[in-house]
Amino acid sequence: MNKYIAVILALALLVSLAACGGKETRTTEPAETAGQSETAAPVNTDDMSAESVSATDGKKILTVYFSSANTANVDAVSSATPDFNGVASTELLATYIHEVVGGDIVKITPVKDYPEDYNCTADVAKAERDADERPAYLPLDFDPEDYDVIFVGYPMWWYTLPMVMYTFFDDYDLSGKTIIPFNTHEGSGDGGTYDEIAAFEPDATVLDGLAVSGSRVENARGDVADWLSGLGF
Ligand SMILES: Cc1cc2nc3c(=O)[nH]c(=O)nc-3n(C[C@H](O)[C@H](O)[C@H](O)COP(=O)(O)O)c2cc1C
Repeated sequence: MNKYIAVILALALLVSLAACGGKETRTTEPAETAGQSETAAPVNTDDMSAESVSATDGKKILTVYFSSANTANVDAVSSATPDFNGVASTELLATYIHEVVGGDIVKITPVKDYPEDYNCTADVAKAERDADERPAYLPLDFDPEDYDVIFVGYPMWWYTLPMVMYTFFDDYDLSGKTIIPFNTHEGSGDGGTYDEIAAFEPDATVLDGLAVSGSRVENARGDVADWLSGLGF
């Protein structure tokens, strides 16, 4: 675990108790302890990196992602995360991928509005994770049966996927599909989430994903191109 991130998250939680009103009684346990004990085992990318999408021609491709800008009633990038001229980092990463692979692109928009403030968002997200919640999202206009390859993107939240992504994987049976994860973060990498996705969707093929530091997404076009090329795109 990146100690720097752990300290930032711990501080964020402490500050949020004051700034957000703290309706619930919250633990002040170190974030590192809380995160490490509950995060999936480190991903074994060796197993996945050997695979690629054979013959991408004619494959039907979907990119689906959640980015914290995509809340139902907030028409702006949350101050909680990096902002690239009004586009949040995971959203920007999704557009870079979409530019290369084509196909359709869909965003996951939670029904609930997350706070614009980082500390308050951290507070809400941690409460969701601790309660193993499944936050609802607005209906998605796609049928997985229409696709062969599905890119799935999200930011790291508290060392794992945002809980709305758990809802997504509960809702959709992606058996038989090729899933290609990508994520943004500020130190956790993928945090074992690619393995988590493989466990959620045991009858899908989950390829090696791309983890990009959120604050550096603007410089990641080359990394995206290299990664996609390595996967056969
Ligand atoms: C609630 C919350 C929890 C976060 N937890 C982590 C974390 O555990 N590890 C990490 O590396 N980054 C964490 N971050 C940083 C985000 O993953 C990073 O800023 C990401 O690029 C945000 O993507 P977005 O701008 O598309 O929302 C967290 C951010 C938020 C708002």
